[in-house]
Amino acid sequence: MFNFRKDISKIPGWLTQNEGTFLYKQAKKSSKKYAIVEIGSWKGKSTVCLGIGVKDGEGGKVYAIDPHKDTTEHKKWSGNSDEYDTYNIFLSNIKNAGIENSIIPIRKTSEKAAITFKRPVDFLFIDGSHHFSHVKLDYELWFPKLIQNGTVAFHDAWHSLGVMAITTLMLLISTKIKNPRLIDTLIVFQKVSKNSSIDRLVNFSFIFYRLFFGWIGSMRMHVLSGTSETSTLDKRSILWLKHIYRNLFIEK
Ligand SMILES: C[S@@+](CC[C@H](N)C(=O)[O-])C[C@H]1O[C@@H](n2cnc3c(N)ncnc32)[C@H](O)[C@@H]1O
Repeated sequence: MFNFRKDISKIPGWLTQNEGTFLYKQAKKSSKKYAIVEIGSWKGKSTVCLGIGVKDGEGGKVYAIDPHKDTTEHKKWSGNSDEYDTYNIFLSNIKNAGIENSIIPIRKTSEKAAITFKRPVDFLFIDGSHHFSHVKLDYELWFPKLIQNGTVAFHDAWHSLGVMAITTLMLLISTKIKNPRLIDTLIVFQKVSKNSSIDRLVNFSFIFYRLFFGWIGSMRMHVLSGTSETSTLDKRSILWLKHIYRNLFIEK
């Protein structure tokens, strides 16, 4: 049973209720013939949403890829401590959620994991390093493993420039994606063998839609979800943004 507010929100990380619910539902409808792949797990917030989804669904497997150490994110969010390692916290969050049998942790970078990973994937969740070259690499290495009509979702797609740039390029030039959607900061596409000219027009228009409205999801994540992973400077701006946001919008 999925309850974001009760079970998931206490795991540190960056995920809104809408995003977590989307991951849960996507995993729940996934066929166990195929794999679900998550790139970037941190302490397991998104992994738990996916894991509860497969457990409530057909019982497939979620491959959670993250080196859990020595990444730019670990240095940034742990006060530059080289020793910081999220693997044990990740494992304990998975265990507490009762989903150990649904999760296959791969403690490697996505580049290394891609070399030996052979299973067809029907849902790919990309939330690893947000640098342009890394997101590009994640896309180039893992998108080919996605089945036709499979779904790919990128997290932080509005406020992270690397993610914004890659997904904009996809919307502009890819002939293999259609049905773009925005769920707070997630941008979601469906993979097809060849999209139509109408699909390409919709993809192109979506660039502007996201540009103008993407900030709402980003505010929802940074302001309302809150996170213990945020730096002091961010915390100050968050308090300020919270004040403005709460006066403008009513949370769902
Ligand atoms: C934004 S966090 C993931 C947040 C997580 N999905 C959640 O819901 O809390 C990014 C993660 O990507 C991982 N990472 C960075 N570079 C990576 C790479 N090349 N391959 C796999 N994971 C990577 C980092 O270790 C970090 O844990």
